[in-house]
Amino acid sequence: MSPSPPPQGPPLPWRIGVKSKRVLTALTALVIAGSGVLVTTPSATAATPLQELVPQPVQIQPHTDITFTLTTDAKIQIATDSARKPAELLASILRPSTGFPLTIADGVTSEGIVLLNNADPKVGQDGYQLDVTPKQVIIRANTTAGHFNGISTLRQLLPPKAEAKTKQAGPWQVPGASILDYPRYQHRGAMLDVARHFFTPDQVKRYIDQIAAFKINYFHLHLSDDQGWRLEIKSWPELTKIGGSTEVGGRKGNLYYTQDQYKDLVAYAQTRGITVIPEFDMPGHTNAALASYAELNCDGKKRPLYTGTDVGFSSLCISKDITYKFIEDVVKEVSAITPGQYFHIGGDEALSTPDADFVKFMNRVLPIVKKYGKTTTGWHEFIKTTKDTSLVPQFWGTETSDANVAAAAQRGNKILMSPANRIYLDMKYNKNTKLGQDWAGLVEVKTAYGWNPGAYLNGVGENSIRGVEAPLWTETLKTSADIEYMAFPRLPVAAELGWSTAASHNWDKFAPRLGAQGPRWKVQGISYYASTQVPWKK
Ligand code: ACM
Repeated sequence: MSPSPPPQGPPLPWRIGVKSKRVLTALTALVIAGSGVLVTTPSATAATPLQELVPQPVQIQPHTDITFTLTTDAKIQIATDSARKPAELLASILRPSTGFPLTIADGVTSEGIVLLNNADPKVGQDGYQLDVTPKQVIIRANTTAGHFNGISTLRQLLPPKAEAKTKQAGPWQVPGASILDYPRYQHRGAMLDVARHFFTPDQVKRYIDQIAAFKINYFHLHLSDDQGWRLEIKSWPELTKIGGSTEVGGRKGNLYYTQDQYKDLVAYAQTRGITVIPEFDMPGHTNAALASYAELNCDGKKRPLYTGTDVGFSSLCISKDITYKFIEDVVKEVSAITPGQYFHIGGDEALSTPDADFVKFMNRVLPIVKKYGKTTTGWHEFIKTTKDTSLVPQFWGTETSDANVAAAAQRGNKILMSPANRIYLDMKYNKNTKLGQDWAGLVEVKTAYGWNPGAYLNGVGENSIRGVEAPLWTETLKTSADIEYMAFPRLPVAAELGWSTAASHNWDKFAPRLGAQGPRWKVQGISYYASTQVPWKK
């Protein structure tokens, strides 16, 4: 790949002065192409932050004679209001560590960080261009999402201590470069199971912060299961009063979110470029609901609360109309406070629901979701019941063939990929891992990385893939430290698989980039698993 041309966009007076020099620089610069390969560089020495980015950008052109230094006078300047939230996020991260005011200014007038709106159309909806000049870091994007993604890259170009919550000594340097970047897939997801163990809003926000740093754009909250119902439903109050009163292991408490707390979580995610997808798992994985309301059971008897970790024993009563009234009320209330397009209906492991009932159930539930303006996504089992190609099956199997998913892909459905033996973050890394499960296998970091979402399932090619989601089930996880130990470093692996080009896939090049994140995670207080497969930067 040849070096990219200098950045397009409205010329800014002080940039014209450096432009010709930068073009010359480009002729001798390193080019790190989408392949992740250093194309040419007699002068390449120690790794720079440009070679340590996760996920790997499509194109990086270093300008080795340029360094930008963030100073106390710098402003974060936005050309339009659509860049305000990304600007505010960046300011909120950098103010504590730098001690600089980093005022957000409307219009572009001075040195500092500049968010412009006229990116190369090639970067699409989620991509960005980032140009580091002596006086400015310029991030161009066509959407708010693109600016969020550009900001995630800028964070990794600053020293790790930029992530600190207390004032640190500078200098705050960014290496000269022109980056052009956009994702392989439109959907880069993470899921947190707050049903098996409940996590407080602050714990959930902490995880949202962590996933946002890796350009994750969907956060799937698994809000109900056999062990707990975790969101207030005003028309069915016992769901949380009873169903939200305990969790795996039997702890007692108000273990649920009020609708206001959920709205706050959704807004928090939104201010980090992330859309929340709420999941209410059905018709199986419903013991918490069946314990809350007798009428949801075919025999009209409440089930006891469940605090163990078995699966497959519960089912809503398929033949009763009240079941669908219940589901409609849930979908209606949740849709009204969920701005995102997707509603996740679960549908997995309905082992206590006969097949014919499962089909009957889905035939009634899918139209309810549509009625409230949402698009159904669900674990892949549900897709055998519908020919609607707008719906999104999430593949979570451990095999590389699934006839129903392949048939859906042939019809035109886009598949979200979460193969359990690759990217379930709750699988143990090795047999000595204290947390997690091993039913899908032991998943070391290299195993998590070693698959191609666009060529994994038979009959499901690149064009049928919507994206990659890394689910984190919490049967064995109780604290933020537990979450982080299982998610790091594999969540960034999933982010790389969902964002970076297939051509850049190369473990030997990826491992050092991943290892370079270690110092940043230490500053952020992330208790990651220091896999011996990864060369961790000191
Ligand atoms: C699942 O792991 N049962 C989706």
